[in-house]
Amino acid sequence: MTRPPLGRVLIIAGSDSGGGAGIQGDIKTVAMLGGYAATAVTAITVQNSLGVSRVHGLPPDLIEAQGRAVLDDLGADALKTGMLGDVATVEAAARLLDHAAGVPAVVDPVMIAKGGAALLDPMALSAVRSLMIPRASLLTPNAPEAATLTGLPVETLDDLRRAGAALLDLGPGAVLMKGGHLAGDRLTDLLITSAGETLFEGARLVSRHTHGTGCALASACATGLAQGLDLTGAVARAWNYVHQAILTAPGLGGGHGPLDHGWPLQRR
Ligand SMILES: Nc1ncnc2c1ncn2[C@@H]1O[C@H](COP(=O)(O)OP(=O)(O)OP(=O)(O)O)[C@@H](O)[C@H]1O
Ligand SMILES: [Mg+2]
Repeated sequence: MTRPPLGRVLIIAGSDSGGGAGIQGDIKTVAMLGGYAATAVTAITVQNSLGVSRVHGLPPDLIEAQGRAVLDDLGADALKTGMLGDVATVEAAARLLDHAAGVPAVVDPVMIAKGGAALLDPMALSAVRSLMIPRASLLTPNAPEAATLTGLPVETLDDLRRAGAALLDLGPGAVLMKGGHLAGDRLTDLLITSAGETLFEGARLVSRHTHGTGCALASACATGLAQGLDLTGAVARAWNYVHQAILTAPGLGGGHGPLDHGWPLQRR
């Protein structure tokens, strides 16, 4: 079997002590797909499968310094942003994206944790719209995030399409509209570019172990781009990775449990 190119991914996101989402979920995802993960940690959260009980944002200059230390020495073939928290952190992340000009960036506009905790200050919404979205090669909103960013309802496949088009108008290279929060037995994600749309569709898996699906999907997309896959190929592999990871989730915790990030190792 030929090895894919390494693919270095700089992840700019928050720590999840439970290990299912955030930086921890991102690192596992990148590594399992054969990439190399480096990080600029934006915040430390105290959380488990039951929810987030504390959030401690790190100073923006410290976040930026982590990213610069990585970019100026180890380098990156793709960037991935997750939880940013507040305006100053969004600005620091935007500076890092500019510092890595020409490197594709997957922007996951994280706003609310699966358990309901706010991970983005509402005051930072316009900064995400004006500073992050135009710099994104790929934007990966879930349905509530797309609704908040556009002011449009996002409850059906057609709504995904409309809100996705409105987000594409803000300047990202592509938008992957995630359908995890929509109703129905089938689940569809919609990849929208100026060239058209591609559907990723499958059965909705009945599971409470879906904590970190969004982080894993965005990190897997970033890994694919870092390894030189084209956008559709990167999203298709990411979609399959997350689907399998839900199927073999280890069943940990009393709430929204983590995925089986390690399924490619086929240990079980
Ligand atoms: N029950 C499920 N069965 C199959 N796939 C799912 C399920 N839930 C989510 N997914 C997939 O996981 C990915 C993330 O979708 P979702 O809309 O849940 O994102 P998210 O809300 O950002 O996730 P997170 O809460 O982890 O941030 C998408 O590719 C979606 O299709
Ligand atoms: Mg998410």
